[in-house]
Amino acid sequence: MSANKLLPFQLNTIRDLQISGRTVFLRVDFNVPLSTPNEQGERHVEDETRIQEALPTIRLAIEKGAKIIIASHLGRPQGRKNPEFSLEPIASCLAEMLGKEVTLANDCVGEGIELMSKSLKNGQILLLENLRFYPGEEANDPEFSKRLSHLAEVYISDAFGAVHRKHASTYGVPTLLLERGIGLLIEKELAFLDPLLHQPKRPFYALLGGSKVTDKMKTVASLIRKVDGLMIGGAMAHAFWAAQGDTVPSDTKPISANDVEAARLLMKDAKRREIPLLLPSDTVKGFDIGPETLQKFSNFLQQAGTIFWNGPLGWFENADYSHGTFEIAKAIAQTSAIKIVGGGDTVSAVKKSGFAEKYDHLSTGGGALLEYLEGNGLPGIEILRLTHPQLAKLQNPVLEE
Ligand code: 3PG
Repeated sequence: MSANKLLPFQLNTIRDLQISGRTVFLRVDFNVPLSTPNEQGERHVEDETRIQEALPTIRLAIEKGAKIIIASHLGRPQGRKNPEFSLEPIASCLAEMLGKEVTLANDCVGEGIELMSKSLKNGQILLLENLRFYPGEEANDPEFSKRLSHLAEVYISDAFGAVHRKHASTYGVPTLLLERGIGLLIEKELAFLDPLLHQPKRPFYALLGGSKVTDKMKTVASLIRKVDGLMIGGAMAHAFWAAQGDTVPSDTKPISANDVEAARLLMKDAKRREIPLLLPSDTVKGFDIGPETLQKFSNFLQQAGTIFWNGPLGWFENADYSHGTFEIAKAIAQTSAIKIVGGGDTVSAVKKSGFAEKYDHLSTGGGALLEYLEGNGLPGIEILRLTHPQLAKLQNPVLEE
């Protein structure tokens, strides 16, 4: 059964679930940027946003007297144990933010971990080590899911940034733990994003940038059917320039022929639908938008009812090329539109610009947010909508009519 075809049953939230005195498997997305190691080899969390955003759910679980097992991935350790990807810096950061002890397990499955989970007392927290230390996590291996599910009685997902992944901890475990629901972060994300998907305040404009050009082309294709105007900046714009025969600055990353072809088709589609598609007309050496583009984008944004922004407009981490991204962050902040931003880099740029408070929603999702806006549903959320008979059919397809 495809997750995309599931019926929109209501989701339980942590508020609905009986978790007092029971062990909860809380999947969060603590995939946060870490510093490079200091002389003692220690790393620290560079951007706490995702941890901060998970706190309301964790606090509510504590308040309700649950025994809390927190699970997350961190980076891409390729299914092998690697201290570089340990959740240790996150455990200290979480403990400090909560003002409470957080025990970091040295693994995420196995007898030792099962014993640790059984000895948890109400309100205590056990943080599992990186789920991706096992290949079974990304492979959504049924055996690995079973081992994780042995740790708890109730499943709660608050990992908005990871629910587009059909992995053991986001998809396999909630097929096995029948008491399931979402946390307060996913609830908040959906409350902001659902109207954006179904009935945005118009005109609805999207501003896309960043360097993951290939990943985003598919999203642009589906966004064109939903928005009233599109602005493209960052490295993405280079594919569009090439598609219309313009020169691409030579110092920038090469663009693939596939991306150029995708950009050509997108421009054709936007034209057919009469959707304005704005591209930069000047740049700072190809690494930032120039003053003319800044003016053009800012003017266009003034009329928006809703603005969705994903992807910086240049290499904003470098002070020489940050002007355009920060000025756009300011221009958006000054509009009366509903302002929604997604993606780690873009959220970080908005925070650095000093205008974050003016935004309606800073989403913790990057890839997950873009996939959500494509309108296909996210596996890690759709699985939580299934009724028990539907789950039974999923586990035993012979039961399918
Ligand atoms: C993210 O940072 O977008 C999520 O944590 C997912 O990470 P992934 O792209 O490595 O699956």
